[in-house]
Amino acid sequence: MPISWRTRLIHSEAGAPPGFRSLTTPVHRGSTTVFARTADLHDEWRQGVAPYGYGLYGTPTTLELAARIGEIEGATHTLIVPGGQAAIALVYLAFATPGAHMLVPESIYGPSREIANDLLRRFGVEIEFYDPLLGAGIAALLRETTRLVWCESPGSVTMEVQDVPAIVAAAHARGAVVAIDNTYAAGVLFDAFGHGADISVQALTKYIGGHSDLLLGSVSLRDDAVYDAVGNVNQMLGMAVSPDDCSLALRGLQTLGVQLERLEASTLTVARWLAARPEIATVLHPALPSCPGHETWVRDFTGSASVFSVVFREGIAPEAILAFIDRLRLFKIGYSWGGQTSLVVPHFDVSRQVRPYGPRLVRFNIGLEDSADLIADLGAALAPLAVGAPVFGAPA
Ligand SMILES: Cc1ncc(COP(=O)(O)O)c(C=O)c1O
Repeated sequence: MPISWRTRLIHSEAGAPPGFRSLTTPVHRGSTTVFARTADLHDEWRQGVAPYGYGLYGTPTTLELAARIGEIEGATHTLIVPGGQAAIALVYLAFATPGAHMLVPESIYGPSREIANDLLRRFGVEIEFYDPLLGAGIAALLRETTRLVWCESPGSVTMEVQDVPAIVAAAHARGAVVAIDNTYAAGVLFDAFGHGADISVQALTKYIGGHSDLLLGSVSLRDDAVYDAVGNVNQMLGMAVSPDDCSLALRGLQTLGVQLERLEASTLTVARWLAARPEIATVLHPALPSCPGHETWVRDFTGSASVFSVVFREGIAPEAILAFIDRLRLFKIGYSWGGQTSLVVPHFDVSRQVRPYGPRLVRFNIGLEDSADLIADLGAALAPLAVGAPVFGAPA
């Protein structure tokens, strides 16, 4: 049947020759995926049962990223979602029923704390925060109604390394699911499933993206039971991801090894230099003995990453610390971490019952710059604060 050129624009018989074999994963875009026959129609989100029913449930690009993350983490299934916070929210929602009790470490990522305190309480979920260093002591907090125990190790900003196996043993004895935010480890420096967790969440935005140019998250799942619970809610929420972002994340994976190696070395060099400075009271870097939970890091981790905090010594005014940050040239002021650029942010309002740091805590992310240049930048910005010198806000 002859058809007009307008129809030909939609139903073309032309195409590229077959046989192209690229080393990289193609970007497959698509909302609608078509079926050959009505008998093939399905609306199944479980890709393993019947793949490619609708673009929302995954394209070959998004599913390849999911499979690659799952392979690295040793998961049975992995879901890719629009960001790290989306991954966290999804896990909370999957276990949120009225009357459910959830345990969350005080050192959890700030917006995770917010969703627990706000949205989940609205649904009648009972949230209890615990000291991240509680370890096996968490048994005393577990209840019949505890459905979910969160870990984040090292914790956000205050960097406590958690005894995940001890927490898992206590939680599993009471039938609770353990989820960990494994972003710091990039899914490789800490084996979440090997240490007993049921769910491992990552903000792929950080190390897997690696270039501060995308937002993505992953939820990796130990077995079919947690996959069913989380996957079912995921498809109802309709958390679509862009295959273009997934393609960037797949590219990031290929250089993750060299990136992590370089970041670990540079970060340790800068952290050790800061630890020797008179202006600094404590460096919170998991690989340094001054970090709470350092022995657990030695036992459970295979390496360290690019983010750490410092606590300025008492007597240095918060305004002086802010002025120090403003003097930095190479360190950019901004949230997030894991990219190529060194970053710095003051955290003067962290609320930790056991370790109150007050308005003296500053978090750094070390990037791919030369560590000698970063140290020179820090040295120049610290100089006006030197011990004995008058500090901003204090009488001259
Ligand atoms: C530990 C941790 N988890 C999750 C997130 C959230 O990731 P995203 O920015 O992709 O939502 C962040 C972001 O800073 C984070 O630091």
